[in-house]
Amino acid sequence: MKFFVDTAEIDDIRELSETGLLDGVTTNPSLIHKSGRNFIDVIQEICEIVPGPVSAEVASVEAETMIAEGRKLAQIAENVTVKVPLTWDGLKACRALSNDGTMVNVTLCFNANQALLAAKAGAAFISPFIGRLDDIGLDGMELIQEIRAIYDNFADTIETEILAASIRSANHVKFSAMAGADVATVPPAVLKGLVKHPLTDAGLASFLKDWEKTGQTIL
Ligand code: G3P
Repeated sequence: MKFFVDTAEIDDIRELSETGLLDGVTTNPSLIHKSGRNFIDVIQEICEIVPGPVSAEVASVEAETMIAEGRKLAQIAENVTVKVPLTWDGLKACRALSNDGTMVNVTLCFNANQALLAAKAGAAFISPFIGRLDDIGLDGMELIQEIRAIYDNFADTIETEILAASIRSANHVKFSAMAGADVATVPPAVLKGLVKHPLTDAGLASFLKDWEKTGQTIL
Protein backbone atom coordinates (compact mmCIF):
# COMPACT_ATOMS: atom_id res chain seq x y z
CA MET A 1 0.00 0.00 0.00
CA LYS A 2 1.22 3.49 -0.81
CA PHE A 3 1.23 6.22 1.83
CA PHE A 4 0.46 9.82 0.90
CA VAL A 5 0.40 12.57 3.51
CA ASP A 6 -2.66 14.82 3.56
CA THR A 7 -1.23 18.25 4.34
CA ALA A 8 0.24 21.45 2.92
CA GLU A 9 2.68 21.89 5.83
CA ILE A 10 6.20 21.81 4.38
CA ASP A 11 7.95 20.87 7.65
CA ASP A 12 5.77 17.78 8.10
CA ILE A 13 6.21 16.79 4.45
CA ARG A 14 10.00 17.14 4.68
CA GLU A 15 10.17 15.14 7.92
CA LEU A 16 8.03 12.31 6.57
CA SER A 17 9.80 12.31 3.22
CA GLU A 18 13.12 11.70 5.02
CA THR A 19 11.77 8.37 6.32
CA GLY A 20 11.70 7.06 2.74
CA LEU A 21 8.14 5.82 3.37
CA LEU A 22 6.24 8.67 1.74
CA ASP A 23 4.87 8.00 -1.75
CA GLY A 24 2.97 11.22 -2.39
CA VAL A 25 1.07 14.21 -1.00
CA THR A 26 -2.54 15.40 -1.18
CA THR A 27 -3.73 18.92 -0.53
CA ASN A 28 -7.12 20.58 -0.74
CA PRO A 29 -8.30 24.21 -0.54
CA SER A 30 -8.90 23.92 3.23
CA LEU A 31 -5.34 22.66 3.82
CA ILE A 32 -3.92 25.44 1.62
CA HIS A 33 -5.93 28.00 3.62
CA LYS A 34 -4.65 26.47 6.88
CA SER A 35 -1.03 26.73 5.65
CA GLY A 36 -1.44 30.47 4.98
CA ARG A 37 0.82 30.03 1.94
CA ASN A 38 0.46 30.93 -1.74
CA PHE A 39 -1.09 27.90 -3.49
CA ILE A 40 1.24 27.75 -6.51
CA ASP A 41 4.37 28.33 -4.38
CA VAL A 42 3.48 25.64 -1.88
CA ILE A 43 2.67 23.03 -4.56
CA GLN A 44 5.96 23.81 -6.31
CA GLU A 45 7.86 23.42 -3.05
CA ILE A 46 6.14 20.12 -2.21
CA CYS A 47 6.92 18.76 -5.70
CA GLU A 48 10.60 19.54 -5.14
CA ILE A 49 10.59 17.50 -1.91
CA VAL A 50 8.44 14.54 -2.94
CA PRO A 51 8.93 12.86 -6.32
CA GLY A 52 5.58 10.99 -6.16
CA PRO A 53 2.13 12.35 -7.06
CA VAL A 54 1.23 15.69 -5.45
CA SER A 55 -2.48 16.53 -5.60
CA ALA A 56 -3.43 20.16 -6.26
CA GLU A 57 -7.14 20.94 -6.40
CA VAL A 58 -8.92 23.17 -8.91
CA ALA A 59 -11.06 25.96 -7.48
CA SER A 60 -13.89 26.30 -9.99
CA VAL A 61 -17.08 24.38 -10.77
CA GLU A 62 -17.28 24.67 -14.57
CA ALA A 63 -15.49 22.15 -16.75
CA GLU A 64 -13.82 24.69 -19.05
CA THR A 65 -12.37 26.66 -16.14
CA MET A 66 -11.34 23.48 -14.32
CA ILE A 67 -9.51 22.34 -17.44
CA ALA A 68 -7.70 25.69 -17.73
CA GLU A 69 -6.81 25.65 -14.01
CA GLY A 70 -5.73 22.02 -14.25
CA ARG A 71 -3.48 22.75 -17.22
CA LYS A 72 -1.86 25.62 -15.31
CA LEU A 73 -1.34 23.44 -12.22
CA ALA A 74 0.09 20.62 -14.35
CA GLN A 75 2.79 22.99 -15.59
CA ILE A 76 4.18 23.42 -12.06
CA ALA A 77 5.89 20.02 -12.11
CA GLU A 78 5.59 16.61 -13.75
CA ASN A 79 4.31 15.00 -10.54
CA VAL A 80 1.36 17.35 -10.09
CA THR A 81 -1.91 15.42 -9.94
CA VAL A 82 -4.88 17.66 -10.64
CA LYS A 83 -7.71 17.16 -8.18
CA VAL A 84 -11.26 17.72 -9.45
CA PRO A 85 -14.60 17.28 -7.66
CA LEU A 86 -16.97 14.42 -8.41
CA THR A 87 -19.50 16.36 -10.50
CA TRP A 88 -20.38 16.07 -14.20
CA ASP A 89 -18.15 19.08 -14.87
CA GLY A 90 -15.39 17.51 -12.80
CA LEU A 91 -15.69 14.28 -14.80
CA LYS A 92 -15.51 16.21 -18.09
CA ALA A 93 -12.41 17.98 -16.84
CA CYS A 94 -10.99 14.62 -15.69
CA ARG A 95 -11.40 13.18 -19.19
CA ALA A 96 -9.80 16.21 -20.87
CA LEU A 97 -6.86 16.44 -18.45
CA SER A 98 -6.29 12.67 -18.54
CA ASN A 99 -6.26 12.85 -22.35
CA ASP A 100 -3.51 15.51 -21.99
CA GLY A 101 -1.49 12.91 -20.06
CA THR A 102 -2.03 14.60 -16.69
CA MET A 103 -2.78 12.47 -13.62
CA VAL A 104 -6.20 13.33 -12.16
CA ASN A 105 -7.47 12.63 -8.65
CA VAL A 106 -11.27 12.73 -8.50
CA THR A 107 -12.21 13.84 -5.02
CA LEU A 108 -15.28 14.02 -2.77
CA CYS A 109 -16.40 10.48 -3.65
CA PHE A 110 -19.16 9.18 -1.39
CA ASN A 111 -20.61 6.23 -3.32
CA ALA A 112 -19.49 3.41 -5.58
CA ASN A 113 -21.29 4.61 -8.72
CA GLN A 114 -19.38 7.88 -8.47
CA ALA A 115 -16.17 5.85 -8.34
CA LEU A 116 -17.23 3.89 -11.43
CA LEU A 117 -17.82 7.14 -13.32
CA ALA A 118 -14.42 8.51 -12.28
CA ALA A 119 -12.72 5.36 -13.57
CA LYS A 120 -14.56 5.72 -16.89
CA ALA A 121 -13.39 9.34 -17.06
CA GLY A 122 -9.78 8.14 -16.86
CA ALA A 123 -8.97 9.15 -13.27
CA ALA A 124 -5.56 8.09 -12.00
CA PHE A 125 -6.99 8.16 -8.45
CA ILE A 126 -10.45 8.06 -6.87
CA SER A 127 -10.72 9.57 -3.38
CA PRO A 128 -13.48 8.03 -1.24
CA PHE A 129 -13.88 10.10 1.95
CA ILE A 130 -14.05 7.52 4.73
CA GLY A 131 -14.12 9.80 7.79
CA ARG A 132 -16.85 12.07 6.46
CA LEU A 133 -19.10 9.03 5.81
CA ASP A 134 -18.42 7.75 9.33
CA ASP A 135 -19.26 11.25 10.62
CA ILE A 136 -22.84 10.92 9.38
CA GLY A 137 -23.32 7.37 10.66
CA LEU A 138 -22.49 5.55 7.41
CA ASP A 139 -19.65 3.08 6.89
CA GLY A 140 -16.68 4.54 5.03
CA MET A 141 -14.90 1.21 4.93
CA GLU A 142 -17.85 -0.46 3.21
CA LEU A 143 -17.41 2.07 0.39
CA ILE A 144 -13.75 1.07 -0.05
CA GLN A 145 -14.82 -2.59 -0.24
CA GLU A 146 -17.51 -1.84 -2.83
CA ILE A 147 -15.16 0.19 -5.04
CA ARG A 148 -12.48 -2.53 -4.77
CA ALA A 149 -15.01 -5.18 -5.87
CA ILE A 150 -16.20 -3.09 -8.83
CA TYR A 151 -12.73 -2.12 -10.01
CA ASP A 152 -11.59 -5.76 -9.71
CA ASN A 153 -14.57 -6.88 -11.86
CA PHE A 154 -13.23 -4.68 -14.66
CA ALA A 155 -9.52 -5.03 -13.94
CA ASP A 156 -8.77 -5.35 -17.69
CA THR A 157 -9.96 -1.80 -18.37
CA ILE A 158 -9.80 0.09 -15.06
CA GLU A 159 -6.43 1.41 -13.95
CA THR A 160 -7.74 3.92 -11.41
CA GLU A 161 -6.18 3.56 -7.97
CA ILE A 162 -8.32 3.73 -4.83
CA LEU A 163 -6.96 6.50 -2.62
CA ALA A 164 -8.58 6.23 0.82
CA ALA A 165 -9.07 9.82 2.01
CA SER A 166 -10.54 11.63 5.01
CA ILE A 167 -8.62 9.21 7.20
CA ARG A 168 -8.77 10.08 10.89
CA SER A 169 -7.24 7.14 12.76
CA ALA A 170 -4.77 4.26 12.69
CA ASN A 171 -7.74 1.90 12.35
CA HIS A 172 -8.82 3.71 9.19
CA VAL A 173 -5.37 3.02 7.75
CA LYS A 174 -5.43 -0.65 8.78
CA PHE A 175 -8.94 -1.33 7.51
CA SER A 176 -8.27 0.52 4.24
CA ALA A 177 -5.27 -1.71 3.66
CA MET A 178 -7.35 -4.81 4.49
CA ALA A 179 -10.11 -3.67 2.12
CA GLY A 180 -7.60 -3.32 -0.72
CA ALA A 181 -7.21 0.45 -1.08
CA ASP A 182 -4.12 1.14 -3.22
CA VAL A 183 -3.22 4.31 -1.33
CA ALA A 184 -4.09 5.92 1.99
CA THR A 185 -3.70 9.66 2.37
CA VAL A 186 -3.12 10.28 6.02
CA PRO A 187 -2.81 13.42 8.18
CA PRO A 188 0.79 13.84 9.51
CA ALA A 189 -0.11 13.14 13.16
CA VAL A 190 -1.93 9.90 12.29
CA LEU A 191 0.90 8.81 9.97
CA LYS A 192 3.55 9.46 12.63
CA GLY A 193 1.40 7.63 15.20
CA LEU A 194 1.28 4.40 13.17
CA VAL A 195 4.67 3.28 14.52
CA LYS A 196 3.68 3.60 18.17
CA HIS A 197 3.10 0.70 20.55
CA PRO A 198 3.81 0.77 24.30
CA LEU A 199 5.20 -2.78 24.20
CA THR A 200 7.69 -1.71 21.51
CA ASP A 201 8.91 1.12 23.78
CA ALA A 202 9.05 -1.12 26.86
CA GLY A 203 10.80 -3.94 24.99
CA LEU A 204 13.41 -1.58 23.54
CA ALA A 205 14.12 -0.02 26.95
CA SER A 206 14.68 -3.47 28.44
CA PHE A 207 16.94 -4.63 25.58
CA LEU A 208 19.04 -1.46 25.84
CA LYS A 209 19.40 -1.89 29.60
CA ASP A 210 20.61 -5.50 29.24
CA TRP A 211 22.94 -4.54 26.38
CA GLU A 212 24.56 -1.90 28.56
CA LYS A 213 25.24 -4.59 31.15
CA THR A 214 27.24 -6.63 28.61
CA GLY A 215 29.74 -3.75 28.39
CA GLN A 216 30.06 -4.40 24.62
CA THR A 217 29.84 -2.07 21.60
CA ILE A 218 29.07 -2.93 17.99
CA LEU A 219 31.00 -0.08 16.36
O1 G3P B 1 -7.88 15.68 1.30
C1 G3P B 1 -9.18 15.28 1.49
C2 G3P B 1 -9.48 14.63 2.81
O2 G3P B 1 -8.51 13.76 3.22
C3 G3P B 1 -10.20 15.45 3.81
O3 G3P B 1 -10.21 14.90 5.10
O4 G3P B 1 -10.62 15.00 7.54
O5 G3P B 1 -11.22 16.96 6.11
O6 G3P B 1 -12.55 14.87 5.99
P1 G3P B 1 -11.21 15.48 6.25
